[in-house]
Amino acid sequence: MSYENILFEVQAGVGILTFNRPKALNALNPKTLEELAEAIERTAKDRDIRVLLLTGAGDKAFVAGADITEFQKMNPLEALLFAERGQELFFQLEQLPIPVIAVVNGFALGGGCEIAMSCDFIYASENARFGQPEINLGIIPGFGGTQRLSRLVGRAKAKELCMTGEMLDAKQAKELGLVAKVFPADQLLVESLKVAKALAVKGQVALRAIKQVVDRGYEVDLKSGCALEAQAFAVCFTSRDAGEGVAAFLEKRKPNFQGSLKS
Ligand code: COA
Repeated sequence: MSYENILFEVQAGVGILTFNRPKALNALNPKTLEELAEAIERTAKDRDIRVLLLTGAGDKAFVAGADITEFQKMNPLEALLFAERGQELFFQLEQLPIPVIAVVNGFALGGGCEIAMSCDFIYASENARFGQPEINLGIIPGFGGTQRLSRLVGRAKAKELCMTGEMLDAKQAKELGLVAKVFPADQLLVESLKVAKALAVKGQVALRAIKQVVDRGYEVDLKSGCALEAQAFAVCFTSRDAGEGVAAFLEKRKPNFQGSLKS
């Protein structure tokens, strides 16, 4: 499958999806969203892709938001459908069972910040900038920004950021807990790939369980979340990798995980 606005390659179990419209700072036009949907579906079906990285082409932007040129001709009903479609797509991204890392190499604004927040965690370059600047267009975030930002940084800070449209630099975003790690720009992809490749050879049942339990548990009370954890803990014991991991520790050797989903 060849794409117009994204690049997609697989390296050692790691899918690398690059938004590729650098002249428009990788802004999300309908074609890009369509291709993103296709790539997410492809990733969901391909058992050989064990980790997914999302990044942007060029040295300036991850994604500078939805393509603003589209807004000029949009009526309210079209705006509703556009927001619902984007939200559905970002849910699909969020619900991929594998680890998904946003590798933010510049501006992550509007829809760009919203995509990054739909990933499991964010690695950023020192020149990365985050924000929800829709207020400056007289509108609000539409792809889940008001909801995921408040869950990640707290309600008051999310309201401040959405109301002012202020941009955060990578250091500020890390201090707020939005970004997990910051790297010099020329090392961001290499370091992110190192982590992704390390995750690709860990026990896949356990990785999936962590993602599911943290995400589902976040939406429910502590006791229900812990019940989900206990069940997922038990499921890990059905995996070959659990047998291997425990045996390797006791035999004082490195585990050789097969990443198999079979018991
Ligand atoms: N939609 C469409 N085009 C966009 C875009 C977007 N979200 N963001 C940037 N571009 C385009 C610019 O129009 C410009 O195109 P041109 O060269 O044909 O004029 C090109 O990308 C480069 O952007 P430019 O504004 O010249 O770069 P800059 O370094 O001066 O500023 C930003 C960078 C990110 C601060 C600025 O582009 C910006 O504010 N973009 C919009 C961000 C936004 O509001 N996103 C949320 C949308 S809902």
